[in-house]
Amino acid sequence: MSLRIGLIGAGAMGVHHAKIFAEEVGGCALTAIADADRDRAGKLAAVLGVSRLEDDGLKLIRDPAIDAIVIASPDATHFDLVMECLKQHKSVLCEKPLAVTSAQCRQIAEAEIAGGKRLVQVGFMRRFDSGYLDMKAKHEAGTFGQPLLMHCIHRVPRSLPYLNADTIPLSSAVHEIDIARFLTGEEFMRALVRTSRPSRRAADRAPQFYLLETTTGILVDIEIFVDAQYGYDVRAELVLESGTISLVPPNASSVRSNSLSGKAVSDDWTGRFDAAYENQARAWVKSVNTGIPVGASAWDGYVATKLGEECVASLKAKSERHLAIEAMPAFYRNTI
Ligand SMILES: NC(=O)c1ccc[n+]([C@@H]2O[C@H](COP(=O)([O-])OP(=O)(O)OC[C@H]3O[C@@H](n4cnc5c(N)ncnc54)[C@H](O)[C@@H]3O)[C@@H](O)[C@H]2O)c1
Repeated sequence: MSLRIGLIGAGAMGVHHAKIFAEEVGGCALTAIADADRDRAGKLAAVLGVSRLEDDGLKLIRDPAIDAIVIASPDATHFDLVMECLKQHKSVLCEKPLAVTSAQCRQIAEAEIAGGKRLVQVGFMRRFDSGYLDMKAKHEAGTFGQPLLMHCIHRVPRSLPYLNADTIPLSSAVHEIDIARFLTGEEFMRALVRTSRPSRRAADRAPQFYLLETTTGILVDIEIFVDAQYGYDVRAELVLESGTISLVPPNASSVRSNSLSGKAVSDDWTGRFDAAYENQARAWVKSVNTGIPVGASAWDGYVATKLGEECVASLKAKSERHLAIEAMPAFYRNTI
């Protein structure tokens, strides 16, 4: 029988996930959509031929006719919804962040451990991007020696209303933090975050610069610029003892015209990471059906939010933070 999926949240990300589960992934059926704005859910349901609508996500989670849940509602709603999924013993793919505070994320991880079964996957979809996976495979093959540095760039053309100096670490930088943990397989022990001088166009959206150090001394720098104007540009480079490995964004073609030669840059993350979202959805459905966890765990979600909080603290104090991330519980072993 195909996996009956209930989607909570029919906004930008919800629409994206809904289309993927309804049209691109086998072995599942998008069975119901819940959104606090019922009209919005209704419009999406009509396009995709989904007959069941709700305005309360909790009701959907409690429905025995739904097997698994995808959460794409605002960050502040995630905690209650994920906790209810655990209570109902239902698998859940929750958009990042897992919850808005590390204390809430920790509570989710503890509830999952108490239940004895891995049910939570966090939507850090870059772990399913072929470029990052290729970087990881090349690094782990060992040909180029040990990693020494990692450079990450995260530029967004125009800022979203909810992004400001305080929320960028928890909403945007967490993607870079998670992928750096995933690629290096190491935890961070130090963090320093600063902003540049304000841009004359958007004073509160100055680029942020992060310098993080892993437990064995790999230095990771991250630039986050959410008002970069020209496009959505995500880059990464791993510098090893005898070579470098760089992320190459997928491009169908390049263009030469008007004395310029170049490749298009996507306008947002859905264009750049389309294939990663689809791979993530397929892997999640397979994981729910087989019981073998994949992707970012609740613990990874906890660590990302905890580090995001430390980065906010560093930014405010303009000083380095010494991080004390607890050892990963055996229940979550081998997730990075
Ligand atoms: N993985 C990524 O790269 C990525 C990118 C963008 C957003 N996100 C995450 O996806 C989530 C959704 O973001 P978005 O950009 O789609 O937001 P959005 O504002 O476009 O959509 C949110 C939707 O949730 C609905 N909603 C609000 N409260 C609700 C509730 N209590 N129950 C059910 N529905 C409710 C809203 O009516 C709206 O339709 C956020 O957690 C965000 O951080 C992840």
